[in-house]
Amino acid sequence: MTKRKKMILGNWKMYKQQQNALHDFCAIQDGVLSSSTEIRVGVAAPYIHLSALSQRRKDNFMLLAQNVHWEHEGPFTGEISPSMLKDLQVSGSLIGHSERRSLFGESNSSTGKRLRGAIMCGLEAILCVGETLQERESGKLTETLREQLTTAFKESHLAACDFMGSHPDTPLLTIAYEPVWAIGTGKSATPLQAQEAHNAIRLLLHEFFSQSVASKIGVLYGGSVKSNNIKEFLSCEDIDGALVGGASLDPVEFLKLISNAAR
Ligand code: PGA
Repeated sequence: MTKRKKMILGNWKMYKQQQNALHDFCAIQDGVLSSSTEIRVGVAAPYIHLSALSQRRKDNFMLLAQNVHWEHEGPFTGEISPSMLKDLQVSGSLIGHSERRSLFGESNSSTGKRLRGAIMCGLEAILCVGETLQERESGKLTETLREQLTTAFKESHLAACDFMGSHPDTPLLTIAYEPVWAIGTGKSATPLQAQEAHNAIRLLLHEFFSQSVASKIGVLYGGSVKSNNIKEFLSCEDIDGALVGGASLDPVEFLKLISNAAR
């Protein structure tokens, strides 16, 4: 069985002014690197802070954007390109977060284009998927996940080998399963509900990719993860880590979450 490295990512959303972002980023990074944990840790920060944070970033700590456009450059007011992120030595980007989908009209199809832009530029792509409460209650969990993943992969026009990038054990693709009803609500999925969805995603990955590629792609859980519930999620067979919103804003809580994840 392939052993995937655990990954814990913070999503800072539209929070923190620059001084606070710099302070908290350094506190988290120093805490993580001094603990010499095996877990891959990073933070997805607002665009406007990426340049300053990148100058402080050390090897083995990930700095991510929260979104990325698909073109290298062009008349796209308000957008940021994959090559601009690469130029700042940003590690990668979240793609298709449910807030982008529900509040800013992003579709499965544009998610696929963003995926292509990021991967072709050598950026790590954290592709976010997840069902609404209505979809779950009407028995459409697997169907929704299949639609989100199939369309994104199809629209990306990428070959399986593209997703592997240049590192044999670290694919450029990670999936984040975030049930929409659990994001920012304090109502996380139960570990059983999360495991069920993660297992469905893992089976889908094995349909799209060869065994050797699929088995290396990590699937993170997101939605009201805290220091006091991270262990339960990580004890599930198909959960490889977490995408953490609210609990990543306070460095003390986030470091506690990471240290609990390491145990
Ligand atoms: P939350 O957010 O941990 O605050 O629920 C997760 C996310 O939106 O990625």
